Amino acid sequence: MITLKDNFFRVIDYLRLSVTDRCNLRCIYCMPAEGIQPFGHSDILSYEEIVRIVRVAAELGVRKVRITGGEPLTRKNLPFLISEIRKISGIEDLSMTTNGILLERHAQELADAGLNRVNISLDSFNPERYREITRGGDLDAVLRGLEAARKAGLAPIKINMVPVRGINEDEIEAFAKMTLDSDCHVRFIEFMPSGTAESWGPEKYITTGEMQEIIGKIAPLEPVRVRKNGPSKYFRLQGARGVIGFISALSHHFCRECNRLRLTPEGKLRPCLFSETEIDLRSPIRTGASDDEIARLLRLSIAVKPEGHTINSTSAAGKASPCSGQAAPEQKRPMSRIGG
Ligand code: 5AD
Ligand code: SF4
Repeated sequence: MITLKDNFFRVIDYLRLSVTDRCNLRCIYCMPAEGIQPFGHSDILSYEEIVRIVRVAAELGVRKVRITGGEPLTRKNLPFLISEIRKISGIEDLSMTTNGILLERHAQELADAGLNRVNISLDSFNPERYREITRGGDLDAVLRGLEAARKAGLAPIKINMVPVRGINEDEIEAFAKMTLDSDCHVRFIEFMPSGTAESWGPEKYITTGEMQEIIGKIAPLEPVRVRKNGPSKYFRLQGARGVIGFISALSHHFCRECNRLRLTPEGKLRPCLFSETEIDLRSPIRTGASDDEIARLLRLSIAVKPEGHTINSTSAAGKASPCSGQAAPEQKRPMSRIGG
């Protein structure tokens, strides 16, 4: 089987596709209150263009695809894209990250089209707080979406929670406890600085270590080996059915395990979340590039994948601005334009 390795011997088998930068929420840690000016219709890749890129990537060794956004379900006819990707030989795992708001309506057709799993972003079980964090989101809609996903068999359901000090850190325990009698995964993501969210500040940043300390008081946390788990570290509360993951982009160097490439909605390959380097695929594709040329650009983006990022815990937690000094790159794109 063909595998794609970068210059640091990492096997790159995972492609994250951001299919839109539009979102029906305005989470405080992701977007400014007024939102961002979304790309125009012709700026973003068509489904046909995306499918072509995935096909070439699969020929090079990509095995896992995740659909992200923005909010992917704000893009029309997403099941069509899912079913087209499903047909590509070599793609073993097809998942999606969603905020869950529109999931109740779409879960079954997504599953029927061949989606395997969903990750649902959810940061609070308190309806008012959820509305504040997302600037207007309806918690009940997400909970109904989660149930619909469960019924449709989009399992295991993974919940992404971003703990922010002073906002929702008092719910870390409740989220962890969800795994006691449900086989869902709860993944705690460290709050990362992103260019358009004015909300980041070192005082709001909670490290994985601190989360583990809080959760470890419920019951001992036992490490779980999950095959090819990329940058997440997985644990289980003793006796629990579900799994708890930690994604520590800042406090640990997760780059060593990084197995992914990202494609932005307007067709730029982005080898690293924290680097501004991007390789344009849209213009070549729209001016008649062959599959070989697309493959060359995919290989190029892997060849320039940096060994690691330079944001570290001391610069992030200790300075007023995590992006100042220490060559920490300015994250100019909002997460909604990269796909997390
Ligand atoms: N820090 C950490 N996680 C973030 N996400 C979006 N913005 C940030 C941020 N600044 C998360 C969302 C979603 C995932 C794709 O990225 O909660 O679950
Ligand atoms: Fe939308 Fe996700 Fe950003 Fe929230 S974090 S505004 S749901 S893209």
